[in-house]
Amino acid sequence: RIFKRQMQCRMDIDRLNAPFLAIYDSLIPTEEEKAKQKQLFTLLERLVTKEWPEARLYIYGSCGNSFGVSKSDIDLCLAIDEANINKSEFLLRLADILQSDSLQNVQALTRARVPIVKLMDPVTGISCDICINNVLAVINTKLLRDYAKIDARLRQLAFIVKHWAKSRGVNETYHGTLSSYAYVLMCIHFLQHRRPAILPCLQGMQTTYSVTVENVECSFFDQVDKLRDFGSHNKEPIARLVWGFFNYWAYSHDYANSVISVRTGSLISKREKDWTRRVGNDRHLICIEDPFEISHDLGRVVDKYSIKVLREEFERAADIMQYDANPCVKLFEPYVP
Ligand code: CTP
Ligand code: MG
Repeated sequence: RIFKRQMQCRMDIDRLNAPFLAIYDSLIPTEEEKAKQKQLFTLLERLVTKEWPEARLYIYGSCGNSFGVSKSDIDLCLAIDEANINKSEFLLRLADILQSDSLQNVQALTRARVPIVKLMDPVTGISCDICINNVLAVINTKLLRDYAKIDARLRQLAFIVKHWAKSRGVNETYHGTLSSYAYVLMCIHFLQHRRPAILPCLQGMQTTYSVTVENVECSFFDQVDKLRDFGSHNKEPIARLVWGFFNYWAYSHDYANSVISVRTGSLISKREKDWTRRVGNDRHLICIEDPFEISHDLGRVVDKYSIKVLREEFERAADIMQYDANPCVKLFEPYVP
């Protein structure tokens, strides 16, 4: 009878595969949109290198890591090898140059935590933020993109989790919840831990790609075309993974002692990282190690109120997956305070 019941549960969950895939498909940016992003990038690259021939413009964030849904803003990083540039002056000059071209709403936000130039392109309708010398973000963008190429289920899961987090209002670092970047790392960690594993640990394999940025050595296996079959022993379809993901964060994760670490492909202890107590504003109530800046806990924005909100949202999602008649609608119902 137990076996029968288990089979029943699986079939019940599997009925959700098609609707989840339909949601995923509806979130993917069209080829037309991607072409427009490329067009804007090319324009900006031309304007920038005309003024600073030695500078290079890179895409990072969701437009570069393949986890971007339709209508995302573009995150750009201008890398310029000048030891003592004055960032504020540089950004003001950059804003000037872009303003005098056909771009609209160009603003230099020199006093933001990460100073940027913001702009909107009236031709494509796309908004874009440009920061300076944030090269680690360019490298972690490549790491995420490489993981996405290994197994299609990562992108499906991450799109659904990001869509859920945005709908439920738990993707706002300024309100103490998690960044999209943190959610994608949580998805990678989760798939590294399925049995059989769906994703490998690229930083634990032979090094085929290596750069040193800001004294951080970033190296990993990036010949991911060779790993296309990696997850093929695990046949779990998307609905079971979504269910497993929320269940893990609702009922299995050891918040008191564990740090998730994509870098090592395992859980490590908070004690080992010395993340057991609050230091300044860093509270470590949910611990997600950055794959390269390993002293960075991406959960450090979470405080004693928002950890409650997050955990209740994970539980809500897990319970909906388990008991609700229509999880594909209920899961994404906007949060109304
Ligand atoms: N990033 C980082 N460290 C953080 C947060 C972000 O290095 N603590 C970098 C990552 O390269 C990430 C990028 O900034 O890809 C953008 O972060 P975020 O806005 O969280 O993610 P997006 O992928 O751009 O998601 P969204 O679609 O919500 O814009
Ligand atoms: Mg972004």
